[in-house]
Amino acid sequence: MENLIEIKNLTKKYGDLKAVDNISLSVEEGQLFGLLGPNGSGKTTMIKLMTGQLKPTEGNINVMGTDVLAHSVEVRELVGIIPEQETPPSFLTAEEYLHFVANIRKLDEIEARCNKWFDLLDFRNEKEVLCKDLSRGTRQKIMFAQAFIHEPKLAFIDEPLINLDPVIQKKVKDYLAEFVKNKGTIFLSTHVLQIAEEICTKIGIIYKGNIIHEGSIKELQEKNQHLEDFFLKLVKEKNK
Ligand SMILES: Nc1ncnc2c1ncn2[C@@H]1O[C@H](COP(=O)(O)OP(=O)(O)O)[C@@H](O)[C@H]1O
Ligand SMILES: [Mg+2]
Repeated sequence: MENLIEIKNLTKKYGDLKAVDNISLSVEEGQLFGLLGPNGSGKTTMIKLMTGQLKPTEGNINVMGTDVLAHSVEVRELVGIIPEQETPPSFLTAEEYLHFVANIRKLDEIEARCNKWFDLLDFRNEKEVLCKDLSRGTRQKIMFAQAFIHEPKLAFIDEPLINLDPVIQKKVKDYLAEFVKNKGTIFLSTHVLQIAEEICTKIGIIYKGNIIHEGSIKELQEKNQHLEDFFLKLVKEKNK
């Protein structure tokens, strides 16, 4: 399988702090890769680097065969992104915002694409409400829809599912599972281990800017090891 993400010796410093410390990592097509780590471990920084929103201090990032540093706009055209804690513009309705995104992405059949998402995540009744008046959960649904509206092959999602009710969480999880089954690729970050355990095929554990473990979820399950126990043990060892 082809690597859709290839990172080599990536470092990002904020002043003296190494938020990302010499990370090399690759993600194959068809993976649902979960980057796990406690708050402040470097997950959001990694996603911003991979999507060209931040410039690395050192290292190389290639996404879908494109050098991110040289061609960040092209990369953002290709992929879908759900940034951490971001909400759609307060002054637009869900429908207006999705049309806006679809127009920027120069998509066809905009109406049909939007309808698919209204139905899939069940917010058709709220499509004409200004985003400022919507619940956090509905705003997160809209962010989900905007990331996938152009049917990307690869999407980056930073701490997904957190404000969604269990019914919608299930729908999103099913969508992601189907997406990777059809050769889509997801890179998600989360500090909620349960989410990772349920949906990821591969995980990387990041701690203080370093990847301290990489492997498949299946591997842990075969060893009868719970991700949470494994994770806590690793972090404790690193803290010694
Ligand atoms: N713009 C910034 N300026 C300075 N420090 C930052 C900035 N963004 C993040 N950091 C620091 O970098 C580290 C990693 O942050 P982040 O990538 O947001 O972690 P995570 O997403 O895993 O919670 C943290 O120590 C954080 O305080
Ligand atoms: Mg974060």
